Amino acid sequence: MSLEAIIHGTFIDAPTPQSLRVRENIFVVVTKTGAIRQICTDESHIREEFRSLDIIRLKKTQVIVPGLVDLHIHAPQFKQLGTKTDIPLMEWLQKYTFPAESAFSSPTHASTIYPKLLSHLLKTGTTTAVLYGSNHLSATKILAESCHNAGIRAFVGKTCADMLTPEYYVETTEGSLKDTEEFVKWCYEKWGSGREGRVRPVVTPRFIPTCSKELLRGLGGIAQKYDCFVQSHAAESVDEEALVESQHPGQRDVEIYRESGLLGNKTILAHCCRLKNSEAGVMQKVGATVVSCPWSNILFARATVPIPYYNSTFPNLKIGLGTDIAGGFGTMLDNMRTAILQDRIDSFATVNRSNTSTDPNIKKENWTVDFKYAFHLATASGAKALGMEDMIGKFEEGMRFDALQLDLGLDGEDGEDERAMRFTRFGDESAEELFEKWVTTGDDRNVVRVWVDGVGVL
Ligand code: GUN
Ligand code: FE
Repeated sequence: MSLEAIIHGTFIDAPTPQSLRVRENIFVVVTKTGAIRQICTDESHIREEFRSLDIIRLKKTQVIVPGLVDLHIHAPQFKQLGTKTDIPLMEWLQKYTFPAESAFSSPTHASTIYPKLLSHLLKTGTTTAVLYGSNHLSATKILAESCHNAGIRAFVGKTCADMLTPEYYVETTEGSLKDTEEFVKWCYEKWGSGREGRVRPVVTPRFIPTCSKELLRGLGGIAQKYDCFVQSHAAESVDEEALVESQHPGQRDVEIYRESGLLGNKTILAHCCRLKNSEAGVMQKVGATVVSCPWSNILFARATVPIPYYNSTFPNLKIGLGTDIAGGFGTMLDNMRTAILQDRIDSFATVNRSNTSTDPNIKKENWTVDFKYAFHLATASGAKALGMEDMIGKFEEGMRFDALQLDLGLDGEDGEDERAMRFTRFGDESAEELFEKWVTTGDDRNVVRVWVDGVGVL
């Protein structure tokens, strides 16, 4: 149901990496169209046209925060979530992941699994999801329709792979291109080609090792013709890097995407743990996004993305967070925490950046990933990666209402279940401290309502 009301209470967002904005006692007007029409601090300033709307008054322990933006999810790996992460990436693909994904040749399987994934995402606070589908056109249409039905904001791609993929799952080059183009056109017809479309298509080469150059160039052409987003993996791990070197001696992922017409300001590249400085510079220049998937990176790549280092060295490089379901088994909240931890582990070796930098004069970073920064990455920064920084990821007049209502004080009063909370509240915490406790020790039980475009989806 579409919200049409004035919400009165505490709103928290993180417009910049180092600023948390805590606005207590504000009035936020959300109209039927899903837009935030007015924000004010005084009830008497609510404009005449909105005066007749209901006022929802939040309890002191309830806060509204922007919905989370997960920039990297493999939808057909959801069933595998939490299992089978015991072997290196390339073996993992062959042994577990390609078989799991190939099961999506069955539309029934897709219709069973995908809605479950989407309710998991919404429940855990993700309101915008960037999704890989499987190699199948029909299952990927089912994924897109499931996103539409669940009400989540979604970027969906039919995964493309015409080589180094088992016979039971590989595509032909022509088939992959034809299905991709059909998928893009089908999405645009259904949901429009603009930013307001809640489900949008993404051109999705799986990664360099499974795509011929002919396929990559064809996909680059489709991305440009339809002006759509591109998602892929880049510079993930030592074994992936070596495989690319063996296939294309002297060339690396970022360069190959670029020469294929796949690298621009609508390109989001997952992992990027082993990016060279020159590549980060190219990505910054063209406006492409690095998606750090901290949990998966530690498990599979055994590497990290040096976020504060990038921030000080490449200040305009777009960076966001992804869960990489099911390479990582954490939620977005888990990945925010892992980003904080990985930053501390990284700082053990600040000056020893030999895997990411050949520049002996690298600046010592003066940034730290704390709860504010992690939250910024998961919200406003993710929105920026998707060209939607003026629409979602924070709360300003004119933006869309993609939001979570958190209850950070479930204490058994008013019939609440006090066990529905993992952290203890002592009653004297500020709103900021309670919010920090949620980021560091809370969970989805604190997420009591979720809206996308002003529509209640949980
Ligand atoms: N590289 C190619 N495919 C995959 C995948 O499914 N997961 C991860 N983490 N990396 C990949
Ligand atoms: Fe991935």
